[in-house]
Amino acid sequence: MRIAFLTGAGMSAESGVPTFRDALTGLWARFDAEQLATEAAFRRDPALVWGWYRWRAALVRRVAPNAGHTGIAALAMEHDVAVVTQNVDDLHERAGSRDVAHLHGSLFASRCIDCGGTAGDGEHDPILRDAHAVPDEGGHEDPPRCAACGGAIRPGVVWFGEALPDAAWNAAIDAIERSELVVVVGTSGLVHPAASLPRMARDAGKRVVEINPRPTAITPLADEHFACGAGVGIARMERELARWRP
Ligand code: OAD
Repeated sequence: MRIAFLTGAGMSAESGVPTFRDALTGLWARFDAEQLATEAAFRRDPALVWGWYRWRAALVRRVAPNAGHTGIAALAMEHDVAVVTQNVDDLHERAGSRDVAHLHGSLFASRCIDCGGTAGDGEHDPILRDAHAVPDEGGHEDPPRCAACGGAIRPGVVWFGEALPDAAWNAAIDAIERSELVVVVGTSGLVHPAASLPRMARDAGKRVVEINPRPTAITPLADEHFACGAGVGIARMERELARWRP
């Protein structure tokens, strides 16, 4: 069966990565997105923004994929599975999923804010340098400088006001078009254009299943809503997969 997974921050919540909009625990409940996730914020206070992404990258490095991530990777052994995520962590990949489309970029693809030059990615990304000296949440650290032009190195994520990477967006559209079932996991469905993908799927006549402990902006257009966390929800959809076979 051809299955497209569209995942958001709730996918990684059970690994211990905070979501953005959950009350009290969400990152945007504690911090102002405008202070941390825009180019203007980085130019205004690069040490605050770089320090915060250093903290997040270190946190992601410490945690492991959860049962939801591994369940999706395991499904790919028998089915044609595409994974499209808004998450900037690498937990899908570490669980074994291949060719994950990262709509909002990656924590491990830093580049120069001025010339765009890459600064070493994956394990060599400067965001992981000096692991012993990572600032606390909200702490400051000056970003490294670009070896080519001296510009500040910025995290490889998509900030508010920036365009999504074409390749990831095209992969998302392709995954939906090819799919027989679209499973939306752990996103509030509030950030566009990523949030428009479930509607596109519905409008294209695809079956849409949502896994999220709470109702969201996606719920009214989904065929089914599993009101549970990612780990339990992925296991359930796998058990019930035959119901959606065309
Ligand atoms: P949000 O924080 O907006 O939504 C997280 C969703 O996960 C909520 O609907 C929760 O109910 C749900 N959730 C919580 N725990 C869960 C669990 N254990 N299993 C499944 N779902 C769970 O996160 P996103 O929708 O991913 O963008 O946010 C979209 C974008 O907003 C992010 O990519 C980021 C942020 O600003 C950028 O940084 C550009």
